[in-house]
Amino acid sequence: MLKVLIIGSGGREHALAWKLGQDKRIGKIYVAPGNAGTEQLEKAENVNLTTVAELVKFAKDKEVGMTLVGSEALLVEGIVDAFRAERLNIFGPNKNAARLEGSKKFAKEFMQKYGVRTAAFASFDDAEKALEYLKTCPYPTVIKASGLAAGKGVVICQNQTDAEKTVQAMMKEKIFGEAGAEIVIEEFLTGFEVSVLTFCDGKTILPMKTAKDHKTIGEYNTGPNTGGMGSICPHPTMTDEQYQDFLDNISAPTLRGIQAENLQFTGVIFFGLMVSERGVYLLEYNARFGDPETQSVLALLETPLLTPIYACLDGKLDTVKLEWKDEVAVCLVAASAGYPGKFQKGIPIYKIEQASFFSQVFIAGAQRQDDEIHTSGGRVLNVVATGKDLAAARKTAYHAIDLIEFEGKTFRRDIGEV
Ligand code: AMP
Ligand code: GLY
Repeated sequence: MLKVLIIGSGGREHALAWKLGQDKRIGKIYVAPGNAGTEQLEKAENVNLTTVAELVKFAKDKEVGMTLVGSEALLVEGIVDAFRAERLNIFGPNKNAARLEGSKKFAKEFMQKYGVRTAAFASFDDAEKALEYLKTCPYPTVIKASGLAAGKGVVICQNQTDAEKTVQAMMKEKIFGEAGAEIVIEEFLTGFEVSVLTFCDGKTILPMKTAKDHKTIGEYNTGPNTGGMGSICPHPTMTDEQYQDFLDNISAPTLRGIQAENLQFTGVIFFGLMVSERGVYLLEYNARFGDPETQSVLALLETPLLTPIYACLDGKLDTVKLEWKDEVAVCLVAASAGYPGKFQKGIPIYKIEQASFFSQVFIAGAQRQDDEIHTSGGRVLNVVATGKDLAAARKTAYHAIDLIEFEGKTFRRDIGEV
């Protein structure tokens, strides 16, 4: 029976392990390093490994047949190349292709070259030139560290003074280290955001159902951005026409570019879209599953996850048709008090079992301590419920999250309110 390795420790990885655990072909699921949720899944075992070298050795020793990578850092570092060099199956883009997420400058230039609709931009590796540019650009303007900055590298600047401070902080004070050595300054777009996760084998892009993330900590888009405080699938307001616009002006030219550049992209392309009055724009590519989008998207996917994954590795994605439940899924995130700023860890969590009667509970940041589960991260857990419509799914999800108890439990009441 197949042994699978999932790399990561969040709610996304718990959801991936949960979905793969339903597949009869899979006998064992290792999660590195995993969390208190993955540890409790029937076929799963947490393994405390983090470096590429350790993971390659482990996969060889245990004869792991398929590896999935949750977060972007290892992809950008080249984990896929390292696994392939040892003839190990791994689902994700190689180092060169992962630049679509790892370098915003590379991604924007790619979009421009292949006609993927995106915000107008300029990129800089010289702070003085960037400061000069800020004198003439329209405001608000968006400044992005080009490299990976754990989701914190995007700043919307209302005026020239804010923008100058941001350039100083990124390029001179290096608050994001080398990730901010190059920056992208781009046009500010308005509209609503849509996440589209897709499978890609380098020849075909196969979209999953659309989803909506909720990025700010506060209700009704207030307060600082987080990793995501909830998601719903499918996206409740994107029209068929807007979806077609995405296929024609974002997905199709992306695929042309991938082929023309010979990127051999195998894995998930997650398109972060802005639907504006002028059409659908691409804000960014991610080269991996989204968190918390994955939790609600997988709740509706009927096809075993291994089917598109194998098809990607075999270059046969064009033969796959994904089957979906005709329902709506809602994922609520319960976070620690203080997140995304400073927060306490080690707080006991109660009544997960009660909530599990009504919903799927995924652990995002919690570890087992003897018989208890204690918080260990900013985003602590996810409650995922499905229903015949959005109202039904929300009702169940909120009922379930209300049952769970931990000191400082913080969540948004407006997830999926349209
Ligand atoms: P990114 O990491 O590029 O997706 O940016 C993070 C978040 O910043 C996005 O989800 C948007 O909410 C916001 N953002 C990024 N680029 C723009 C833009 N050009 N105009 C308006 N908001 C943006
Ligand atoms: N939910 C956004 C992300 O995974 O980057």
